[in-house]
Amino acid sequence: MINAIILAAGKGKRFSGDIPKQFVKLAGLPVIVHTLKVFQKNESIDKIIVVTNKENVEEVWEYARKYDLNKIYKVCVGGKTRQESSYVGLMSCPKGTKYVLIHDAVRPFVDDRIINDLVNTVKKYKAVDTAIPSADTIIRVNNDNFIEEIPNRNYLRRGQTPQAFEYNLILDAHKKAIEDDIKNATDDCSLVLRLNKPVYVVDGNEHNIKITYPIDIHIADKLFQLRTTSFNKNVSSFSFKDKTVIVIGGTSGIGLSLVKLLKDRNAKVYALSRHTNINIDVTSFESIKRAFDLVLEKDGKIDIVVNCAGDLIRKDVVFMDEKEWDYIYDINVKAAFLISKALIPIFKKQGGGYLMFIGSSAYTRGRAGYAAYSSSKAALVNFVQALAEEVVDFGIKINIVNPSRVATPLRFRNFGKEDPKTLLNPDFVAQRIIEALSKDTTGSVFEIR
Ligand code: CTP
Ligand code: MG
Repeated sequence: MINAIILAAGKGKRFSGDIPKQFVKLAGLPVIVHTLKVFQKNESIDKIIVVTNKENVEEVWEYARKYDLNKIYKVCVGGKTRQESSYVGLMSCPKGTKYVLIHDAVRPFVDDRIINDLVNTVKKYKAVDTAIPSADTIIRVNNDNFIEEIPNRNYLRRGQTPQAFEYNLILDAHKKAIEDDIKNATDDCSLVLRLNKPVYVVDGNEHNIKITYPIDIHIADKLFQLRTTSFNKNVSSFSFKDKTVIVIGGTSGIGLSLVKLLKDRNAKVYALSRHTNINIDVTSFESIKRAFDLVLEKDGKIDIVVNCAGDLIRKDVVFMDEKEWDYIYDINVKAAFLISKALIPIFKKQGGGYLMFIGSSAYTRGRAGYAAYSSSKAALVNFVQALAEEVVDFGIKINIVNPSRVATPLRFRNFGKEDPKTLLNPDFVAQRIIEALSKDTTGSVFEIR
C-alpha cells in the first residue's frame, strides 16, 4: 500500500493571514483541496492521511464529502512542529503501509509526473526527495554576515515535497530523532540522512511552490492560470450530447466557429445575437432575461452559456470620448454582470451550470492605445474569479478563456489586413474553448496562444 500524508497543521506565521494559509482560497477552492485532489486522482496512491490543526479537522472532513475525496482515511491533529506533525501522520498510517509520500498541504501545484517519479524510484532507493536546480547562487555566511563558502551551483538543489519513503525506514528515522532530542527538522529526508542512509533525488517543478509569504498567493493565482492552459488531452470522452448551450455572439468570429463545433458534438445550440430569431442585447437586463426564458421554455434547461460578445476600440485615452469609453465598458464588463445576474438564479434552481466568458490576453498588461480594452478585460477576469467563489457551492462553474490575437471580423475592422501567420484561427480557438468546457475547474483563466 502506498499512502500519502498531507501536512496541514501549521499556523502560517509568515503568511500572517486571518486563517491558516492551507485554507485560503485559490481559484475558488481552498489550497488544501487543490493539493488533496491531485493525490485523490493519482492512481498509485491508496490512502490519504491529513494532519491538521484541532479546529480544522471537521472542515477537512467537510471538504472530503463535498469534493468526493474518498481516499482520505484519517484526519488527525498535528503537533507544534512540522516534524511532530509528520510523526503523527506516520503513526496514523494503516497497517500494511509499505511506502509513504509526505507532502506539504501548501504546495498545491504538485503533479502526477512528480508523484509517479517518486513512486517508481522509492521502491528501489527507499528514500527519495524532490528538488529543483537553483537559479540563484547560494552563499553560506557566518554569524558576522561574512561569506564562508560559495558552493558550486551545479551541486545545489532547492528541496520541495513530496518526499517518499519506505514506511519502516522513515518511522525508524523519526524514532531515532526523538531519541536524540532532534525536534525541529523542517523536512523528513534530513532524518534519514542522519541514519547515514542514501536519499535519491527526483526532479521537482518550478511551479511546485510552497505558499509561505503573502505574495505567494498572488504567484499561486498566476501559476494556477498558467496551469489550466494544459488542456485535457482526451476531450473526446466529454459528451455535449443533449446539452443545451447558448452562445451569445454566436453569429461571427470565435462564436460562429464554436457553434459549429458544438453542433458537431451533438449539443443543442442556440446561437444568439442582436439579429437572431431569439435576439439578445447584452447591454439590457430585460433583453438577456427574455432570451434565457425563451430557451428555458423550449428546452426546460440551460446547461452552458458562452458569452462571445465583446468589442474593441483602439484609441489613446485623450482621443477617446466618453461615449466610446462607456460603450467598451458596457459590452465588455457590464454585460458580464447582467448576464450573470439573469443566469445565476436559473443555474441555482437547476442545481448547476457552466458560464464561460471570452476575454483577451490583453488583460495582463495595459498598452498604449488599449486603455479601455485592456482594463475592461482585466476587470472581466477579476469579475469571473469573484463570481466563481460566490457560487461554487451551487455546482456552478464560471471560467474565462483569454485568446491572443485571433483572425476575426472584429480584428479586421480595427487593424485591417495582417499577416495571417501572426493570428490564431477562430476554429483553433473554438476547439480550445470546447476543451475548457469539459474541465471541472471554476474561477479558472485559460490562456490560448
Ligand atoms: N506544518 C504542520 N505542522 C506544523 C508546522 C507545519 O503540519 N506544526 C505543515 C504546514 O501546514 C505546511 C507545511 O508543514 O503545509 C510546511 O510548513 P510551513 O510552510 O513552514 O507552514 P507553517 O508552519 O504553517 O508556516 P510558518 O512557518 O510561516 O508559521
Ligand atoms: Mg513552519
